[in-house]
This record gives sequence, C-alpha cells and structure tokens, in this order.
Amino acid sequence: MGRSEERHAARGTPAVELIAVRKYFDAGAIKALDGLDLSVARGESVAVSGPSGCGKSTMLHLIAALDTPTSGMIRVGGQDISLEHDLARYRRAHIGLVFQLHHLLAQLSARQNVEISMFGTGQSSRKRRERARSLLADVGLSGSGERSPTRLSGGERQRVAIARALANSPELLLADEPTGSLDEASVDLILELFKRLRAERPELTIILVTHDARVAASADRIVALRYGRVEDDDLGRHSERPAS
Ligand SMILES: Nc1ncnc2c1ncn2[C@@H]1O[C@H](COP(=O)(O)OP(=O)(O)OP(=O)(O)O)[C@@H](O)[C@H]1O
Ligand SMILES: [Mg+2]
Repeated sequence: MGRSEERHAARGTPAVELIAVRKYFDAGAIKALDGLDLSVARGESVAVSGPSGCGKSTMLHLIAALDTPTSGMIRVGGQDISLEHDLARYRRAHIGLVFQLHHLLAQLSARQNVEISMFGTGQSSRKRRERARSLLADVGLSGSGERSPTRLSGGERQRVAIARALANSPELLLADEPTGSLDEASVDLILELFKRLRAERPELTIILVTHDARVAASADRIVALRYGRVEDDDLGRHSERPAS
C-alpha cells in the first residue's frame, strides 16, 4: 500500500472533503468547478495539476473560504465550512494559503508581511516579530527580513509567502504554484523546505497546485483536474508498481 492509501485506510476524519462542489460565475456561463469530488487524508500531500482555467485556484480559494461554492459541500477536519460564522478565525485556525502570485505587500518588509497573518491572534507585537523572524530563518531568509519584497528575487518572495502561510501553524497548507516561474535551484530550495516541513509535522496536510512534474512527483498523490472536475487521481499508484 502507498503512503496515501495507508492514510486513507486509517479512516480518520479526512482533512478535506469536497463533495459535488460547483462554482459558477457569470450566472452559470462559467463553470469553474462542476461537480468536484475529492477527499484528502490527514497528513497527505496532494499535487493538483490540469490546464489553465480548469478550476485549480478556485478550488483552493473555496477550501480557504475566500469564496463560497454555488452548490456542494466542503468539509475541513470533518466540519462543514459553510457553517462557520467567523471566516477570518476559521482561516487563522486552520489554513495557510500561498497565493498564485504570492500577494506580498510592497510597502511592508518581508518580516511585516509574515507578521500580518498573526494579527488577531492575541500575540504581542514582540512575539509576532520574533515568530516572523524565526519563520523567515526557517525558509532560509534570515538576512532579508527587513527588505521590501520588491527587492527580493522571485524565489525569495515565494519563500516569504510560504513563511507567512505557516505563521499560525496551520493544519492545512494550500499552495498555488509555489514554484511557478522559478529556476531549478529555487525549486530545489522550496522542495527541500516542504520535505523538512513534512518530516517535522507529519499531521500537516498539503494541497499544492503545480505544473512542474518534479514538484508533483514529490507529493504522495497526483490529482488532475479538467473542466472543474477530477479527471485523474493516482491514489494507490504505489501499490500498482510491480514488486521488485
Ligand atoms: N472571480 C471570477 N469571476 C469570473 N470568472 C472567474 C473568476 N475566477 C475564476 N474565474 C474563471 O473560472 C475558471 C477557473 O479559474 P481558475 O482561476 O480556478 O483556473 P486555474 O485552473 O487556477 O488556471 P491557471 O492554471 O491559469 O491558474 C476560469 O475560466 C476563470 O476565468
Ligand atoms: Mg490558478
């Protein structure tokens, strides 16, 4: 049995379940998601691929409760997220999100960009600052905390965005092309970072959108979307390998 299958077989509450999720825009003219079913086990890492416009970012935004589905249900940690009253609290408590274009604020330093996600957690500003510094050190940017993201390379910005997503120790990390437009060496750094993170926090669930075959291969499982649905899912691929 592969790692993903084992996690599913352990039958704990899935980390994330999408059940017949639809997301239509423009009065149904655009079907970004059109009956998406997906269950992700706790501690699993899933790479999501598929052509531009197939609904990958939309799926992550719905899981992060940045938008609501047209129909269908999304459960995170067994809870129907449409029943959450306080979505900001929900996101802080459960979700780390790395946006497709990292969305760092240019007016703030790298450290302040990381600190922002800790606002509302009740931590003192000194605590937030210390934590931001240590997160930046974790992603290999200890010397760059006081610089503006405009003065960082693409790979460095992505790492700041990952540090920000990890600030509140999420149980679910959603990353939208965290290695998009990066060179090989920067991709290696980010893959290394994810690997270390997973070793340190085996309960962390990761859903990662990527077009990079190498990044996808680093995940336990690869899911391909097309026209807003799951077209292909290699859950159990490891068990299909002939014994050597
Ligand atoms: N806010 C919106 N209003 C209208 N249409 C939208 C909106 N957001 C997304 N769409 C449309 O929904 C579809 C899915 O978009 P989405 O961003 O999820 O694709 P994607 O798979 O992430 O693509 P890419 O690989 O280019 O990032 C596209 O046709 C897109 O134009
Ligand atoms: Mg996208």
